[in-house]
Amino acid sequence: MAKIVVTAPQLPAALDLLSEHQVVGGDHFMDREELAQNIQGADALLSSLSDPLDAQMIQQAGPQLKVIGQCAAGFNNIDLQAARQANIAVTTTPGVLHEATADLAFALLLQVTRRTGEAERLVRAGKAWRYDHTFMLGMGLQGATLGIVGLGQIGEAMARRGAAFGMNILYSAHSDKDTSRIGGKVRRVSNDELIASSDVVSLHCPLTNETRHLIDADALNSMKESAYLVNTARGACVDEKALASALQKGQIAGAGLDVYEDEPAISPELMRMENVVLLPHIGSATRPTREKMSALTARNILAVLEGRQPENQL
Ligand code: GLV
Repeated sequence: MAKIVVTAPQLPAALDLLSEHQVVGGDHFMDREELAQNIQGADALLSSLSDPLDAQMIQQAGPQLKVIGQCAAGFNNIDLQAARQANIAVTTTPGVLHEATADLAFALLLQVTRRTGEAERLVRAGKAWRYDHTFMLGMGLQGATLGIVGLGQIGEAMARRGAAFGMNILYSAHSDKDTSRIGGKVRRVSNDELIASSDVVSLHCPLTNETRHLIDADALNSMKESAYLVNTARGACVDEKALASALQKGQIAGAGLDVYEDEPAISPELMRMENVVLLPHIGSATRPTREKMSALTARNILAVLEGRQPENQL
């Protein structure tokens, strides 16, 4: 029987599959101290994207730790080099969450360009309104340009949605991608051209040294004043202070955010802005998607423990 530490609340879809083993946790978030204690002697970790799995934490585990099953697509919280050195397999959950995450990214795009958050707040506040030809005008999507940073599975799913709404698609990536499933006009450009030419810039890249603060003050300054930023990737891909300042100065038209640099904290300036939509990191949060993520993570862990190749090893 293996000791499997589950660092955060989990669904039965994962816990049931692991029930033959000694499962520690799974019903609450472990802070650094609790995780550091529980990881000692663990054979496997079912981790969540905010766990501090740095070199120190990984060393704390001991030589028996064989697998970190991260229940997320992103893995910027894990020191991969330290894991590799310690011979620990790290797995993630691609292939099951891209459609749900792209749905949410497109919801943010629609919300911010059509001002639905602002409009709903007005109605709920009981403010006076009537049908008015000149009231609450937003941006149209037909013929507008959607710039996708990172055309992986989620970026491609977002591009398909944009094309279906009549948007022209620009993307930036390290290499040309197969765009045959997207339809409409699609072109690969540099990050700089994408940022300067898009009506909506949507981030779908992992957080790496290269993408940290990719959207900084200069990038925001080079965006169109009428353009919007959507971020469902990682908060630190955007310099949040620079974003608040650009929005205050009217350098861009608005932002739709699901992730934050220091989440769950959010810059107070952003909280006050009507042209900003703020969601609590729920990109993949549909029940079927989260159940698939849970089951896949558990299967990955069991595969490594049983000496088989997991589906999604990094
Ligand atoms: C969510 O942000 C994920 O990486 O799965």
